[in-house]
This record gives sequence, structure tokens and C-alpha cells, in this order.
Amino acid sequence: MSALADRLARRALFLLDAETAHSLSIRAMKSGLMPFPAVPADPRLGVDLAGLHLPNPLGMAAGYDKNGEVIDPLLALGFGFTEAGSVTPLPQPGNPKPRIFRLERHNGVINRLGFNNEGHKACLARLRARKPQGIVGINIGANKDSADRSGDYVLGIERFYPYASYFTVNISSPNTPGLRNLQAGAALERLLGEVFEARETARRQPPVFLKLAPDLDKAAVQEIAKVINRTELDGVMISNTTLSRHGVEHHRHAGEAGGLSGQPLFTRSTVMLARFREALDDRFPLIGIGGVCDGKTAWAKFEAGASLVQLYSCMVYEGPQIARDICRDLVARMDREAVSSIGEITGRKTAEWAARDLEN
Ligand code: FNR
Repeated sequence: MSALADRLARRALFLLDAETAHSLSIRAMKSGLMPFPAVPADPRLGVDLAGLHLPNPLGMAAGYDKNGEVIDPLLALGFGFTEAGSVTPLPQPGNPKPRIFRLERHNGVINRLGFNNEGHKACLARLRARKPQGIVGINIGANKDSADRSGDYVLGIERFYPYASYFTVNISSPNTPGLRNLQAGAALERLLGEVFEARETARRQPPVFLKLAPDLDKAAVQEIAKVINRTELDGVMISNTTLSRHGVEHHRHAGEAGGLSGQPLFTRSTVMLARFREALDDRFPLIGIGGVCDGKTAWAKFEAGASLVQLYSCMVYEGPQIARDICRDLVARMDREAVSSIGEITGRKTAEWAARDLEN
């Protein structure tokens, strides 16, 4: 597709409500009609982490491909890895529509989907049907009405271990009432204990990452980090969406309930990332998420302490060539600064970021 046709197609998508536009974009990817851009295969972009080799450090975040429908098209778009889910044991419809709102001008999104997904069975069938290739994470969650939420995460490990390059334990969605309570010290310790026990008994032991919220004060960061430092987690993902509306207070959708993502989340999630980098032992690599929109924002996440980054919201605004564009920009920055690996810049500005205010 030419740049003009691409711009027109995106304009047309923006005339539709956000959820219809999302379904159409999934259909277009499944149809194979999407053009797949050439992404630089520069070995300097490669990252080795938790026993995985990623061809580049940019991943698609959870929530775009909740049911594992477009794993291979996303990898073909140039993402170094992709994450299916969040997936819950049983299918569930999520909250009533409308439940996704675009905050144009801000490059932001508010969603209160509430873990709508087709459940383990449907996602597993898709994973079984594909040829295993690339790095594919499975993001596991709990059903809203589950009587045993930790049990839902355990089921996720037990069922998906043959297919998951890694697992993400998502306890940070703001849209499942009470879910974020699992981040509190004792509850987190118990949950992770059960998750590791399930992994131990599985025939494969994929790495397990924990995905956290950005709405944590300094004491909560210390408390959570203390628990994590005692565990065998393989990495920590920061962050999920925020309940804050800082910077978008006057937008007509600011009053909608749900989690805010995209550009307005960038500073908060990057400061949180740096604070966790300071509080966690060095053996835990971090995955930075929140407002990655271009090479500059990805680079800043690395400097704040990330070894990898993921994005979702900015693809809505920038289009499907965003992975290629960011990878190209990262290569140009590496040339300019004579950097030969992402690891070289990871954490070089952690202290600076950690000291910043969450809202500025
Ligand atoms: C999400 N996100 C998300 N995260 C998760 O762990 N499980 C999920 O099911 C979802 N679902 C979801 C739906 C929608 C519509 C959005 C916008 C986001 C959060 C996502 O993975 C990411 O952490 C945040 O959106 C921040 O990154 P961006 O969007 O600012 O790049």
C-alpha cells in the first residue's frame, strides 16, 4: 500500500468506533492482504534474555491479540516478539460496549474491556494449529467470577507451557475488580509460589514475567520489590494502563472509567520502570511498556532500565509499519552514538528517571 493509501485507510478507520476499527485491523491482518514491511535485520538489535533470543527488542503488548489470532502477522510486521492474551480459563464477554475510547491529539486510549476473550480452549487450538516460530508470550489472567483466582493462573501455566516462549502473569489490569490486590505483599508471594510450583511440574519451564501497574507509591514499589527479590521470576514488565488522567483532564473522554495508555502514560510508566530498576536485584531484567511511540521513546525506556520494550496504543495512531520505523530509528541511533547493543544503554539514566515526578 502506498503511503497515501495507508493514510486514507487509517483516516477511514478513525471514523469508526475504536472497537470496530480494532476488529477490522485484526481481520485485515488475518487476510494476509496487509503489506509486510522490510525490517532491518541488524544483529545489534538482538537481545538475549531469560534464555530467549529476540531478533529485536520491540514487542507487541498484550491486549491487541487477546485470542492468539494474529501471532504470525504481528511477527511479520517486524515485532521481535508478540504476546497473546490476556487469556482466562473460561471465555468471558467483558464489560458492556462502548469500552474503548481514543483520545486523539493525545495519542492516548482509555479501555475498560474487562478481559473479554474466547478462553483457554480457543487460544490453545490456534497455537496448536500453527508452526512454532518466533518468540510468543502468553499473558495469563483470571476470570472475573472465579472463586479461585490463583487457580486460574495455575491453569494457564498447565495448559500453555508447550506453546509459550514465556508467560506473563498479569495482575495489573484495572478493569477486573480486585485484581490489583494480588500485587500486595502476602497475596503476591502466595500467587507466585503457586505459579512456580505449576511450572516446576510441567515438562517445559518457560520463563515467567510479572506485569505490574503504574499506580504505585514509593512504599508499594519497595514492598513489591522485596517480594520479587525473593522469587525466581525471570523478569518484570512495567507497566499496564493507569487510572490517572494527568495530562488529558480536559479531553471529552477523560471521565470514562478504565485504564489510560499511549503517550499520556509515557512519563509515569518510565519513572515507575526506573524506580523498580533501583529497587530490584540486577538479576531481574525489565520490560518497559507505556507510551512507546517512536525510536526516541523506546530509547528512553532502555536508558531508564528496560532490556526490552512493548507497545500497543501508538500502533493505533502510527499504523502497522510502526515496528519497522522504530527498529530503523534504533539502528540510526546506534550508529550515531556508536552503540553496539541495547544492553549498553540499558539503565544508563535510571537514577535520573527514578528521581522524576510521576506527573511531569
Ligand atoms: C491493554 N493492555 C492489556 N494488558 C494486559 O496485560 N492484558 C490485556 O488483556 C490488555 N488489554 C488491553 C486492551 C487495550 C485496548 C489496551 C489499550 C491495552 C495493556 C497493554 O498491554 C499495555 O500494558 C498498555 O496499553 C501500555 O502500553 P501502550 O498501549 O501505552 O503502548
